[in-house]
Amino acid sequence: MTPDSAPTARQLLAFYLEAGVDCALTDEPANRLSDPGLIPAATMLPEPVKTMPAAIPAPRGEAAPPPEVAIMAAREAARTAPSLEALRALLEKFDGCALKFTATRLVFADGNPQARIMFVGEAPGREEDIEGLPFVGRSGKLLDRMIAAIGLNRGNAYIANVIPWRPPGNRTPTPQETQICLPFIQRQIELVNPDVLVTLGNPSTQTLLSTREGIMKTRGRWFDYDTGTRTIRALATFHPAYLLRSPSYKRMAWQDLRSIAKALESASSR
Ligand code: URA
Repeated sequence: MTPDSAPTARQLLAFYLEAGVDCALTDEPANRLSDPGLIPAATMLPEPVKTMPAAIPAPRGEAAPPPEVAIMAAREAARTAPSLEALRALLEKFDGCALKFTATRLVFADGNPQARIMFVGEAPGREEDIEGLPFVGRSGKLLDRMIAAIGLNRGNAYIANVIPWRPPGNRTPTPQETQICLPFIQRQIELVNPDVLVTLGNPSTQTLLSTREGIMKTRGRWFDYDTGTRTIRALATFHPAYLLRSPSYKRMAWQDLRSIAKALESASSR
């Protein structure tokens, strides 16, 4: 594109894609900066809007309830799920999280529900949203290689995310969205009841292991994860997407994997 020529539709689409805009939320375009009805009240600024809204609201007619109501509803629903199948069915029906309305489908889990080890990431990306399975894109391929390095695969490991719907454009989930989804992943962990829980990356570690420390401090450390009925050993490690961007940290991730393998060995000899 030369500076004085208008971009073609193809160039514009390529620009959007690179900026992370890879899905249409509605059939018609909406100017979210000028239509007050499309901007959540809390994010409206008095003078010209200076920032993008923190969360893209659900399309009209499909509004999610206020966060406090949704968090209470999520706790109540998750608590009553007697099995993983029931929990999945509840999530399919749950309308409390606006991410559901922009995602293609629910991304519940992959792997073996009887597994002794459970990995939890942050939220699905584009490929996961299309396939309905966690960690199937580039970072998923690396996760598969990481777990294969300690003799595991999706037949003897269980994989899920804190957030089961893809945030539009892969944006960071808001704290409210995380709090709404938290009871579901907590119940999922309780129902899988693994011997070892592995949190992948900072958001999953901070959310599930209730720490404010960053992943550089938490990785490689063992935590106690309390399900309410049992304490599970939990280890934080780097997210595979981070390792793709910063391969020099793979050495530390390898140490974490050795530590996980040892913990599984000692749990099975008990
Ligand atoms: N990143 C995640 O945290 N989860 C996925 O499922 C894919 C990428």
